[in-house]
Amino acid sequence: MALDEGEARRRLAEHGQEHVLRFWSRLGDAQRTQLLSEIASLDFALMDHLIRDWVLSEPKPETFSRVEPVPVYPVAGPDRADAREAWEAGCDALREGRVGLVLVAGGQGTRLGFEGPKGAYPIGPISGRSLFEFHAEKIHNLQKTFQCTLPWYIMVSEATAAETKEFFEAKSYFGLSPLDIIFFEQAMIPCVDEKGRFLLEEPHRLARNPNGHGGCIPALVENGITADAGNRGVQILSYFQVDNWAVKVADLYFIGYHVLHEAEMSSKVHRKTTPREPVGVHCVCDGQYRVIEYTELDIYPQLLETDSEGRPIHYAGNPAIHILSVNFVERVYEHFDRFPWHRAHKKIPYRDEAGQLVKPERPNGYKFETFVFDALRFTRHDPVVLEIVRPGEYTPIKQLSGDNSVESAWLIMREYWADWLEAAGCPVPRDASGKVSIKIEISPQFALSRDEFVRNLSGSKGPISEDVSIGPLGQCPLSFMKGIRETN
Ligand code: UTP
Repeated sequence: MALDEGEARRRLAEHGQEHVLRFWSRLGDAQRTQLLSEIASLDFALMDHLIRDWVLSEPKPETFSRVEPVPVYPVAGPDRADAREAWEAGCDALREGRVGLVLVAGGQGTRLGFEGPKGAYPIGPISGRSLFEFHAEKIHNLQKTFQCTLPWYIMVSEATAAETKEFFEAKSYFGLSPLDIIFFEQAMIPCVDEKGRFLLEEPHRLARNPNGHGGCIPALVENGITADAGNRGVQILSYFQVDNWAVKVADLYFIGYHVLHEAEMSSKVHRKTTPREPVGVHCVCDGQYRVIEYTELDIYPQLLETDSEGRPIHYAGNPAIHILSVNFVERVYEHFDRFPWHRAHKKIPYRDEAGQLVKPERPNGYKFETFVFDALRFTRHDPVVLEIVRPGEYTPIKQLSGDNSVESAWLIMREYWADWLEAAGCPVPRDASGKVSIKIEISPQFALSRDEFVRNLSGSKGPISEDVSIGPLGQCPLSFMKGIRETN
């Protein structure tokens, strides 16, 4: 909707934000148009509410009379009695084209500090293949095994859209059909300073951030993605985050349990080792499924309780891996005005009174975000909450080193893949403490599991003495592996 200067001034003044036009006299025509269109798109009612409740007053935590541990399905595997049925239900869902994939890749990736979208980060320790490429190789493998199409819906934001699309084009969509890779954009929301005033990133642009991964709910509906899924016969969306390198895309057990229990939304959880481990916790609060953020643990002291052996009673950590039924997304969308917002105190670059760019050293304002796990509270049937073990399922890349980093993910994955090689008859060198001492990388297109790896590694076997990278087609420079069966 076009807005003229007078109307923009009136609206801004009504909400105490007239400083947004501070540089008006200096702006060219194109810049004025840009700024007016940003003002026109603002949801002032929402912003007033967020500023009032989250900035000008200290937010009041929700109170619950009961906070209970979430019922968890134990780790799935062939030794579980109900697992075969779940596995088959998962296979059927894939074969019959009822599954689509939702990748959220709209975040700003500030902690990693990588130039470009996080998904383009060259995570392969030997090949330098990107996070996007690893995920694409998983899709290749599943599509081949199940002779199906897995439409890949990728959420981007103003911060990542152009570069992500360019990256996929430059890489020829990693050999997948561009018709089945559908980008859609989430909304942005203004950041504010500590007094609740909008910040300007440029004299003609507000400082804004993507509206959080929960923004996928409105974005899926408003961009016609749920409609596209419906037209394709897709009923189930396997949700994952771009920075989880190891994530099992469209995991068969997980989908199977979700289908068998007619769940609307399901989540994987991993076992927390200490009560204060910095991950969100799945729990049931007054009968509703919730995830409580680790920053709020002290508000709900029950969440810090341990058993007689010192293990957390509320152990269900949140690795951000979910399944959402398409109908459920459409229903939650209808209630999105009741979806909670969260605030984060951040360092937000801004223009000072003179128009100079300031990069603050300390947090100077707030970003507002929604989180996808908050959809759990809208479920009408109990979600399936399935336990996983972290290696091979959850290696988030948040930063270069330390916890949840590139460095830690490489170490975890090399141990994980070493186990596959050794199961296939190829011992790997280890140091005195038993840790693997070479780099290892196995393409998910070659194998998604240890069993598949052992089956596919049909060449001659023997001990390994140098770094091993097995590519998508099974190519490996090591001579004893020349006989690897090509999977394509
Ligand atoms: P994070 O919360 O870790 O944020 O996102 P981030 O942007 O990757 O990194 P930091 O916090 O700035 O360092 C987890 C996942 O959710 C996606 C991210 O792209 C990542 O896959 N996400 C996050 C979105 O798609 N949109 C958002 O608005 C926020």
